[in-house]
Amino acid sequence: MINILIFGPPGSGKGTQSEHIAKKYNLLHLSTGDMLRAEIGSGSELGEKVKHIMARGELVPDEVVIAMIAARIDAEKSRSGFLYDGFPRTVQQAAELEKMLEGKGLKVNMMLALDVSHDELVKRLLGRGAISGRSDDQDMSVIENRIEVYRSKTEPLADYFRKKGVYSPVDGMGTVEEIFIRICTAIDKINS
Ligand code: AP5
Ligand code: MG
Repeated sequence: MINILIFGPPGSGKGTQSEHIAKKYNLLHLSTGDMLRAEIGSGSELGEKVKHIMARGELVPDEVVIAMIAARIDAEKSRSGFLYDGFPRTVQQAAELEKMLEGKGLKVNMMLALDVSHDELVKRLLGRGAISGRSDDQDMSVIENRIEVYRSKTEPLADYFRKKGVYSPVDGMGTVEEIFIRICTAIDKINS
């Protein structure tokens, strides 16, 4: 089973590209952001707990997302592997994921890192905020805080996985189709 991390700042296209990648390579798409939003939508106790953290653009506690991912990995049998979107986001999350995978004789095979300019990130997020209900897309200060939290807490993971030899940067500017072609070229290289 292959394990791919899709990595990049808020608005870099992780979710958009993940749908195409998961379909083409028969991977289970695991988005911690989507899972947390589903908890909020269902009105669960966990949803109530994380709602205010997400509305500010801060990270929810590591143990919450680690438990969600562990449950999904354990249940999966039929796919060719996993595509992690928005996880891991801290060094602790990365170390816990590696521990879980090691226990199954697996490892992180690739970190696909989408590179997108700051202006383009803000443009995409405000664009979605204007048409969809994601509250964290509607306030400029929350968008800037999400990008800042990414730079300080999450970006160091690029170096962490670069040292492990699995870091694969992809130009995330251009059309969805153009970027998907670049991603497929990168995946096919490690798959061959
Ligand atoms: P999460 O849901 O992961 O949000 P995010 O990282 O802020 O990123 P987005 O989902 O907004 O962007 P994306 O990169 O997926 O881009 P997308 O494809 O949507 O996290 C939300 C919150 O949950 C966090 O702030 C945190 O509180 C919490 N959380 C989640 N995971 C956590 C974890 N592991 N630990 C702790 N807390 C966690 O695209 C964005 C927009 O751009 C869309 O409208 C799209 O249509 C458009 N677009 C995409 N590609 C292009 C393109 N090529 N050209 C033009 N427009 C495009
Ligand atoms: Mg997303």
